[in-house]
Amino acid sequence: MLIAAMAVLDPGDEAWIEDPGFHQARRVFALAGATIAPRPVDAEGIVIHGTRKGPPPKIIYVTPSHQFPLGVTMSLKRRKALLEFAQTRGAYILEDDYNAEFRFTGPPLPCLQGLDRTGRVIYAGTMSKILYPSLRLGYLLVPAPLADAVAKLRTAMDQHSPTIAFSPVSLRITRSPGSNLARCPPHPLRSSAVAAMTAVKTLRVIIDLTRTR
Ligand SMILES: Cc1ncc(COP(=O)(O)O)c(C=O)c1O
Repeated sequence: MLIAAMAVLDPGDEAWIEDPGFHQARRVFALAGATIAPRPVDAEGIVIHGTRKGPPPKIIYVTPSHQFPLGVTMSLKRRKALLEFAQTRGAYILEDDYNAEFRFTGPPLPCLQGLDRTGRVIYAGTMSKILYPSLRLGYLLVPAPLADAVAKLRTAMDQHSPTIAFSPVSLRITRSPGSNLARCPPHPLRSSAVAAMTAVKTLRVIIDLTRTR
């Protein structure tokens, strides 16, 4: 989350977060120097339109699969409205696909990243639920224009993630039909092969595992 925030935000930029929401999001955006604007959550997810005056958000943090802490799954209608809003305001959406692994009723919903046609979504996933939280291994799928900045930030933080943990995990992310990324429909403007390559390249760069590039 901090990598995404630092790649996108300048000090003073507006960051929208869910209210109630994940306390870590508030901490991260505060650290990146953002002005934090809590937005309410209703039965369909984050409420976008309302009475709030002020500059448009630069980033909107959401937990669409399983809103933390209310447990709401963002409706398809709200997902589309949020994407349109982000596109028209030039905002990025930070999609924290929290608890996406635990959907026991109804068909799977496409993630925001998979619905996105204009490169506004940064997708954040974690291995904490399907493997172990103690691995401390997560991944970002970022729009191409952000990839360099994200890679530089990742490298600056602690160079790379644990190599032993990453090798099998990277294969699972990119190849498994059950993985979160496989649930996201491919981007219509790219072939799925290119999308997959982008994911692999981004993962390699961000997690910087092998340095074999
Ligand atoms: C809403 C939400 N997002 C993301 C995470 C990140 O989990 P992890 O750091 O284990 O990947 C958590 C963990 O509690 C969470 O509650």
